[in-house]
Amino acid sequence: MNNIKFANPVKILFGKGMIPEINKEIPKNKKVMILYGGGSIKKNGVYDQVKTALFEYHWVEFSGLEANPHYETCTKAVKKIRAEKVDFLLAVGGGSVIDATKFIAAAACYQGDAWDLMIEKAPIDAALPFGTVLTLPATGSEMNMGFVITKAATQEKLAMDSFHTLPQFSVLDPETTFTLPPVQTANGIIDTFVHITEQYLTYNQHALVQDYFAEALLKVLVEEGHKVLQQPHNYDIRANLMWASTWALNNWISQGVVADWATHIIGHELTAFHGIDHGKTLAIVLPGVLKRERTKKADKIIQMGKNVFGITEGTRDELIDKTIDTMEKFFNSLGIQTHLSDYGVDESTISKIALRMKERNWILGENQDIDYTAVAEILHDRI
Ligand code: NZQ
Ligand code: ZN
Repeated sequence: MNNIKFANPVKILFGKGMIPEINKEIPKNKKVMILYGGGSIKKNGVYDQVKTALFEYHWVEFSGLEANPHYETCTKAVKKIRAEKVDFLLAVGGGSVIDATKFIAAAACYQGDAWDLMIEKAPIDAALPFGTVLTLPATGSEMNMGFVITKAATQEKLAMDSFHTLPQFSVLDPETTFTLPPVQTANGIIDTFVHITEQYLTYNQHALVQDYFAEALLKVLVEEGHKVLQQPHNYDIRANLMWASTWALNNWISQGVVADWATHIIGHELTAFHGIDHGKTLAIVLPGVLKRERTKKADKIIQMGKNVFGITEGTRDELIDKTIDTMEKFFNSLGIQTHLSDYGVDESTISKIALRMKERNWILGENQDIDYTAVAEILHDRI
């Protein structure tokens, strides 16, 4: 295990009826901006709960943050923040709204073109303080410093992080997730699953705490994932899934180990070019990455097969095949298709993605062995 320096200062307020607590977390002298997406929070009562909780505050709002949030939309929010002299942000929604809010918080403290912050042309030196009310368990954005922003004009989707973009607090009320459409529930389960595999499914790094914690989270997803689509209003199932997704990417299981992230980086390109939901891109790409890396990842694939899916019979090769197959079938059982052709993506997109990897000089994976030709091979395998 590698050395560890770790702190995660995000305050979590978890459970039903917790939204009014934001009133105790935001100083009363702050002018607050509520940021949200396309309106799901107005249909399920979350907006009203937030409004009630903020009755003692001066507040304004900014809506219309899209899934896979656009830099172009975020810059409009920054203008409003400056005009209204807002000094505290409250993201209410899924990962896209939270990610957008992180970017907006940093952009509001930067005088140049905010895209500079995404391409490391300028460092993130400051950000407005913000909290979150999560409505879609998936990204872990509520308890991490990362954010992913799309520049629509150039079809670029890039990730960034900073200590300045950690939420001050996050409210996680599982009841807010009762209204998720089945496809978003499934996307969230798969995103969480793949966050875990990105950190765990590498090679044996003798990090037992991280390994067994990761396996426990994966088991929660498999057990509850099968039930939630039949019982979308079951509080305990929703609570387990929400808690698992937060822990999957709050930087805990990545401590002391080398991680992969190839599936995510390739998946982001599929969203950038085709707008495919983030979770779906991962369901497409991960089986391909595992097949290509099957020798170097063998021990961990077999370990996951045994400890998560109960696969114990067969030769090493058979165990690997069965595990990858069972995992893909799990994604399919949630209603998510796992091939590029299911989404109308063809060879021309594969060439564009490979070219981008080449131009950016990106080499992926925990072994740093997935170059642009390997990315093309992985995607060909997924047609
Ligand atoms: O916009 P509204 O109307 O709110 O509707 C949303 C959106 O259409 C809807 N929704 C959210 N909560 C709901 C709900 N509908 C009914 N009831 C509710 N309770 O769901 C749709 C998708 O929402 P979105 O926020 O886009 O989904 P998700 O949470 O999966 O976020 C995806 C984004 O997060 C990034 C992804 O790349 C993508 O841009 N990621 C962020 C990460 C991070 N910050 O650490 C890591 C991830 O790997 C990921 O890359
Ligand atoms: Zn993800």
